[in-house]
Amino acid sequence: MYKLSFIGLGSVGLCTAVCFASKGYEVTASEIDRAKATRIRRGNPPFYEPSLNKMLVKALENGNLKITSNNEEAILKSDITFITVGTPSKTDGSISLSYVSKASKEVGRALKKKVGSAAHLVVVKSTVTPGTTLNIVRPAIERSSGQKCCEGFLLCSNPEFLREGNAIRGTLNPDYVVVGGCNERSTDMLEHLYREFYSENLPPIIRTNIPTAELIKYANNAFLATKVSFINTIANICERIPGADVRKVAEAIGKDHRINPYFLDAGLGWGGSCFPKDLKALISFSKGLGYDPELIQATLRANEDQVRFTIQKAKKELGTLRGKSIAILGLAFKPNTDDLREARSLELIRGLLKQGAAVKAYDPMANENARRILKRKIGYASSAVECLKNADCAILVTEWEEFKKLNPEDFTRNMRKPVLIDGRRIFDPEKYSEKLRYVAVGLGEPAALIAP
Ligand code: UDX
Repeated sequence: MYKLSFIGLGSVGLCTAVCFASKGYEVTASEIDRAKATRIRRGNPPFYEPSLNKMLVKALENGNLKITSNNEEAILKSDITFITVGTPSKTDGSISLSYVSKASKEVGRALKKKVGSAAHLVVVKSTVTPGTTLNIVRPAIERSSGQKCCEGFLLCSNPEFLREGNAIRGTLNPDYVVVGGCNERSTDMLEHLYREFYSENLPPIIRTNIPTAELIKYANNAFLATKVSFINTIANICERIPGADVRKVAEAIGKDHRINPYFLDAGLGWGGSCFPKDLKALISFSKGLGYDPELIQATLRANEDQVRFTIQKAKKELGTLRGKSIAILGLAFKPNTDDLREARSLELIRGLLKQGAAVKAYDPMANENARRILKRKIGYASSAVECLKNADCAILVTEWEEFKKLNPEDFTRNMRKPVLIDGRRIFDPEKYSEKLRYVAVGLGEPAALIAP
């Protein structure tokens, strides 16, 4: 079994390292933030992922996983090094490669000291735009190691597709694995690792070259984001047709196996740590090549529109937003996380405040993170019902299970004016329309004469 090292223990690095360790691999994982490394070493992951905590503790206890802040030590102990550092967005949408460059240089420096006959394999798992591995990582390792790529060391791109909240399950059961190598030998070595790791449960392995592998990650995310923006566009059309309902449209077109039912939930739009960052990076990268990817620009614009349209809906219902009290149900960018990165709630709240509304919000997990960002600009409630008290309008932003249990009476009894904007389509339109003013994404006004 190959010995593995990971450089950078964010969600991708830590979850992948733990999964390999859980299958008996000897893994040394390095995180230069010492406080974070110590926390992980004590079996306490810095973010929540189902099953991660238990698996981390087990891997530390049985000795398969070692945590260090010394990149060199990790690299020297291994046959394969995964670079899993962050690639944050810059203001122009492109990605910052400073962590990737630094990690590459350190890999090279360590490799200079490595003795042994077999060539070390370096795997870039961080999300990087096409060309980065060959034009930035390769020369950085070559310079600091004094060795030539494909000779002294091997190099692969192996992008990661895990979803927040599903990271462990996604790593253990991916739809496919991409292995892009600088030569056959590199690709073979990484493919061999994955064949052994997945054994009976082997997903399709896509063998390709490095730039294609790098692009696959962006294409995957851009496609999914476009799919959501597409159904949101259909939702906006539905709203203008009496009786039309985007949920039925999605249910129907999802039956076409060429479309499939996933990522067809219309709503306030997409957020999170990947879609916005990756789409902006792809646009910026593509423009740099002299091609303006208009479809992807439109996907991004359509996403921004969803928040704007929601504010317009509230304004239409209330006449003016000035002095009105708005209850926001849900802050996290999706349910079961406290992550607020690029959350639609933040855009929405900023827009509402700008128009003079007073905002009170409640999220089962993300209140604390919101407080750090929005400070005292809004009020924070400790339950959904408390959030609804005396509000003129409620907007459902994140589809938490907890909110699905609310009744129309929770709104009518507590709100000053029971107006509900369902931004994620979790409530039953018939039941709610009877008791209060119910407005929803992708739902045309009720049309009495249209059956069923
Ligand atoms: C995403 C990709 O799915 C994953 O492959 C990649 O590695 C990282 O980015 P994640 O950010 O965890 O994962 O979130 P995901 O579950 O994909 O949802 C992204 C956003 O799209 C969320 O804001 C979600 O609310 C929204 N969404 C998703 C919809 O609005 N409708 C849908 O039908 C699906």
